[in-house]
Amino acid sequence: MLSIGSYTLDSNLLLAPMAGVTDYPFRRLCRQYGAALATSEMLSADVSLWGSKKSRTRIPQQQEAAPRSVQIAGSEPQQMAEAAHASVQQGAHIVDINMGCPAKKVCNKAAGSALLRDEVLVRDILQAVVTAVNVPVTLKFRTGWSVSNRNAVTVAQIAEDVGIQAIAIHGRTRADAYRGYAEYETIRQVKMNVGIPVIANGDIQTPLDAAFILDYTHTDGLMLGRAAWGQPWIFWQLGEFFKTGELPAQPDVYTRSQVVLAHIRAIHDFYGEETGVRVARKHIGWYLDRMTSDPGYKQRIFSTTCSNNQLAAVNDALGIIALTQY
Ligand SMILES: Cc1cc2nc3c(=O)[nH]c(=O)nc-3n(C[C@H](O)[C@H](O)[C@H](O)COP(=O)(O)O)c2cc1C
Repeated sequence: MLSIGSYTLDSNLLLAPMAGVTDYPFRRLCRQYGAALATSEMLSADVSLWGSKKSRTRIPQQQEAAPRSVQIAGSEPQQMAEAAHASVQQGAHIVDINMGCPAKKVCNKAAGSALLRDEVLVRDILQAVVTAVNVPVTLKFRTGWSVSNRNAVTVAQIAEDVGIQAIAIHGRTRADAYRGYAEYETIRQVKMNVGIPVIANGDIQTPLDAAFILDYTHTDGLMLGRAAWGQPWIFWQLGEFFKTGELPAQPDVYTRSQVVLAHIRAIHDFYGEETGVRVARKHIGWYLDRMTSDPGYKQRIFSTTCSNNQLAAVNDALGIIALTQY
């Protein structure tokens, strides 16, 4: 079983942190379907920004089930330490450090995977955060900053050395951004060279991908990001596949419709009318992309700015799609 510090997780399947996606409603849904951990969207290490409307929705929600993992991004050790401390005060059970984001800058400073170039700074940041809090600290990073500079093994060893409790690695370099395919050889090398739990991430789309990557890398867990868009039940499907060896069908169209409607309602409740309708569009689009190739449904649903009308339009669309599938 995968453990992070004192937390033993219910499974080895994790939801990847994704800014603009893994808000509280989506994290809760994925966890209901078997994601054992769902890290928050990244928060800037500059805590003076946490009062903004956007950041307020990103700080941990007290009603969220344990363990709550909060991700912070920044480049100054002292600032990261303060952000980690503040995260714990706000209810984080685990602090996750972002060294995986390919954006050049977070709040006008080098951050995310750009930091991987400077291993001394990496050590200073990790050390500062681990020292600042008495909860487990985890690290999410990429295989390196370019194909000719894959330093993930060194970074993982630094992480283990300073007391990081688990690492998640996306099998791309910073220079790759999201192009091409993830590679798992570097992740396999990392697993062979550290004793802390290692979680593989990148392009895990199906149960067969998951089985192959686990078998190849021998990692302790798998982290899925984009594969959960529009199908949070993928965690349940993967879990069933690992238990039984059978490829399970997705939930029937009625169950999926109920999940979609409940998810949209949760988004409306969490963000309020205006932002809720806007945020929900993204998820509605992903659900529909997986159910139909007809763009007409989205056009009708996206034209409304009222939450009740949005729900009604989605309900109608799902009803028609269900009929066409029987
Ligand atoms: C829209 C989007 C937002 C992301 N935001 C974050 C983030 O806030 N923190 C982070 O560590 N990674 C972030 N990532 C990277 C994902 O966590 C993950 O590493 C990447 O998508 C590869 O996994 P996948 O192929 O399963 O999607 C983001 C990715 C996407 C597509």
